[in-house]
Amino acid sequence: MTGRSLHTMGQQHDRRSWAEPWKIKMVEPLRMTTREQREAALREAGHNTFLLRSEDVYIDLLTDSGTSAMSDRQWAGMMLGDEAYAGSRNYYRLEAAIQRFYGYRYIVPTHQGRGAEHLISQTLIKPGDHVPGNMYFTTTRLHQELAGATFHDVIIDEAHDPQDLHPFKGNVDLAKLAALIDEVGAEKIPYVSLAGTVNMAGGQPVSMANVRAVKELCDRHGIRVLLDATRMVENALFIAEREEGYAGRSIAEILLEFCSYTDGAWMSAKKDHLVNIGGWLAVNDQTVFEELRNLVVVYEGLHTYGGMAGRDMEALAIGIEEAVQDDHVRSRVGQVRYLGELLTEWDIPIVQPVGGHAIFLDARRFYPHLAQDLFPAQTLAAELYLDSGIRSMERGIASAGRNPVTGDHNRPKLELTRLTIPRRVYTQAHMDVVAESVKACYDSRESARGLVMRYEPKYLRFFQARFDPL
Ligand SMILES: Cc1ncc(COP(=O)(O)O)c(C=O)c1O
Repeated sequence: MTGRSLHTMGQQHDRRSWAEPWKIKMVEPLRMTTREQREAALREAGHNTFLLRSEDVYIDLLTDSGTSAMSDRQWAGMMLGDEAYAGSRNYYRLEAAIQRFYGYRYIVPTHQGRGAEHLISQTLIKPGDHVPGNMYFTTTRLHQELAGATFHDVIIDEAHDPQDLHPFKGNVDLAKLAALIDEVGAEKIPYVSLAGTVNMAGGQPVSMANVRAVKELCDRHGIRVLLDATRMVENALFIAEREEGYAGRSIAEILLEFCSYTDGAWMSAKKDHLVNIGGWLAVNDQTVFEELRNLVVVYEGLHTYGGMAGRDMEALAIGIEEAVQDDHVRSRVGQVRYLGELLTEWDIPIVQPVGGHAIFLDARRFYPHLAQDLFPAQTLAAELYLDSGIRSMERGIASAGRNPVTGDHNRPKLELTRLTIPRRVYTQAHMDVVAESVKACYDSRESARGLVMRYEPKYLRFFQARFDPL
């Protein structure tokens, strides 16, 4: 040794270290690959990380969706599945958990988040309507457009700047929302589409003050506020940490208060709720509920299972309870922050402040020599995979799709590569390996040449598009 002294994480921050509030009971071996194997796999996948086989991946940071490790209690719950076609007891457990922790009156189960987005869009949107939201999300906006609406981004400007340190970059810009109401008329706005910890902005939270103000404005115009609650638990932690008056309040209390300013929510339970599949919709309005309950049987399944098995609903009901445990949320977001701190220390460009579920590499600053039409974020995802077998996801021009009217690429300000951390799956050592691989790609950034898209699917093109290297 050279005389340098080694420090634990806690010591580096002048505090006692903390660790994950769980221990590992079962392990799943990972496969290591050679560079040659990865080159072949990436070619086969058309340079799209969604098209890789997972057995060719070492550390899988494609998504935090459906990739969580379930607890022993959840696995035990799987054995308690009541697989009756109608009226499964697991459904009533799920309904009670959502009512208790989110506070909504009526519940409709769905197979996953986009099932819920489909039902709510078809139920509330008429052709020619307008839906404002705090930045688009891919599947959410597509369902709104397929139902005939035009989506309007009314997030604050700071959200589009990866270096702006605003503590609540997910906030709605009330002036933009008010201007849209004036322009198109409240009767053309079926709801405001409000997301907790805005995924496409880098996992950025919405403040309690903001949701309260959005609700007040919408109430004056008779417009509903509907919440994408997919990562609302993480949003609640940011409120506890950053918003005056919420320090020391529990995640569960904050979650319930936040939801009380909305008229309903849809949920991809595959994230916060620590299950591999599932979703739900919840509303307070009985008439809307009747409509949704009618439609769910057409597309998802009976209104007491909505596409889920009884055992899935049981695991989900237990996951909802585990998801709001303060220690769990702190350690989950803490792990994301740890990775962010390493990259920040090494001057690697990432979206700041670090969000709840992922590190977003800023591909514009990573590869300033690549034009956006050369898919810099997709290129970075490919380079990372080649370097180490780590799988990430593009959240830039490929994800943004095309303008439905002009047919041109949507060119988002944010051109990001997302390193998404699954919940309760990887250790701090995995995060170290990831950080070093990102650094290796950063050190060789000048050699990156970009990609051209050779196959473009009509819907949600980022999932299945194929690219060739330049
Ligand atoms: C914010 C947000 N909303 C909705 C969805 C759609 O949910 P699902 O993938 O379960 O269909 C996702 C999934 O990635 C998401 O991140």
